[in-house]
Amino acid sequence: MNFILSNLAFIIIPFVYMTLVFIGKYIVKFEWQFIVFALVLSLIIYFVGGQFLEWTVFSGQFSFALFLLVILPGIFKRGNSFRSVIDPVRGDIAIYGFIYLLPHSLSNLDKALSGFNTSGIVASLLMVPLVITSFKRIHAKMKTASWVMLHKLSYVAYVAIYIHTGFDVWLNPFQIYVKMYSWPVHVITIIYIVLKFRLYFLKIRSILSTT
Ligand code: HEM
Repeated sequence: MNFILSNLAFIIIPFVYMTLVFIGKYIVKFEWQFIVFALVLSLIIYFVGGQFLEWTVFSGQFSFALFLLVILPGIFKRGNSFRSVIDPVRGDIAIYGFIYLLPHSLSNLDKALSGFNTSGIVASLLMVPLVITSFKRIHAKMKTASWVMLHKLSYVAYVAIYIHTGFDVWLNPFQIYVKMYSWPVHVITIIYIVLKFRLYFLKIRSILSTT
């Protein structure tokens, strides 16, 4: 049971993905309404609580699932059928992930400030500029090159998320342990890195073959 609860994000992903298949086009059309709805729901969740929400939202697993859904399409080529569901709403999912962090952050703030798994705060702070520039209106006002450059910061944020979800870290005195039951996080990270490099080398090879 503890193993499942510690890796709920991987179980949540297919459910969110299927939801996106059905309502993705409405998320694109009613961007603001969905964001306001997420914000209100996140606040309600914080005040209502309950066992199911403890396991999913308060634990950070729901936000982690949403961030994984933002990260993982990066290992597939554009136009790939998995990507085609995520790509139109990728920015929105990142915004929801951030919004649903609210109950997790508020309920764990004291532990994080006392030096236990403070990496969550680092990850969230790194994500602030990424989330702000994920709003379509703000994105549209930016030069593509500056947006792409800024969004390279997401790799640093992912490293912080990986440390936060894969390790237990105490700052004073400094101690770091691999989180119990976290092997799926490490396996998925290794697969991501290998496939990302593969895609990168394929891209270089195709550029070289056309020049
Ligand atoms: C990128 C944003 C974040 C993600 C994806 C995230 C996700 C997670 C996950 C999946 C866990 C493990 C829960 C489990 O073992 O079942 C966790 C633990 C924890 N998180 Fe976060 N978190 C984030 C941000 C934050 C922030 C902003 C704070 C503090 C304000 C925080 C504080 C903590 C603490 C203290 C723990 C350890 C809880 C414990 O074991 O008692 N996290 N987080």
